[in-house]
Amino acid sequence: MTDHPASAGLQLITTADGSNTLFNEQVGEHYHSTHGAFQESRHVFLESGLKFFLEKSGQKDVSILEIGFGTGLNFLLSAGYCLQEQLSLNYTGVEAYPLPEKLIFQTDYEKYLPAEVWDKFIKIYTPALNKTQNLNNLCKLIIAACRLLEFRTEQQYDVLYFDAFAAVHQPEMWTAEAIEHCTRYLKKDGVFVTYAITGNLKRIMKSLNFSIEKVPGAPGKREMLRAVKKL
Ligand SMILES: C[S@@+](CC[C@H](N)C(=O)[O-])C[C@H]1O[C@@H](n2cnc3c(N)ncnc32)[C@H](O)[C@@H]1O
Repeated sequence: MTDHPASAGLQLITTADGSNTLFNEQVGEHYHSTHGAFQESRHVFLESGLKFFLEKSGQKDVSILEIGFGTGLNFLLSAGYCLQEQLSLNYTGVEAYPLPEKLIFQTDYEKYLPAEVWDKFIKIYTPALNKTQNLNNLCKLIIAACRLLEFRTEQQYDVLYFDAFAAVHQPEMWTAEAIEHCTRYLKKDGVFVTYAITGNLKRIMKSLNFSIEKVPGAPGKREMLRAVKKL
């Protein structure tokens, strides 16, 4: 993938469930499933990732690392859920090409969220680039504006949302090196989720000491991968 100015070659399009996503012309790929951006985000990351972890652990606080922050939809749904359940959320998004605020506004994700989450997100989005911001008294956000392999942190996370462009368009995000680089920041018993599942990804996860599980995918995808860190 070549460098691109964050808003060049990006088109806003409407997906099958009526929610919007972006199409990146340079990469030739959408930011979410065209079968439904909102449905995919809710199913893969919120339901199969965050809620699975919370049910398993019984924790009332959770930390999430996302690779490929993009529009912030996965963050927004997670923050909305944590607010509703009064859970504390510490969220780090890694994003090589942060989107301009203007494009984030245009996604219209407001309609899927409590107003207080959307309004505050719009205020803190730019300040959260490389500096932690409070969304509310329960939720903190930082967006690390760097490429995955440049990302470093002292923190360890409970849940990892892996939301890179598909391997066919961006194979370097799905190598053992890239997956090892981000999963080192996951705690033991931490949960890794992504919308895809391939033989190669399963082999990598097993080699990194994860137990893997095929779970039903979002509309348009039969299966997706969930993996739990054993060591
Ligand atoms: C499938 S989209 C993510 C969609 C996003 N989670 C959302 O809800 O809008 C993939 C994202 O990965 C970002 N990306 C591409 N290369 C990257 C890299 N090397 N490191 C981190 N992020 C990268 C892209 O800019 C894009 O935002």
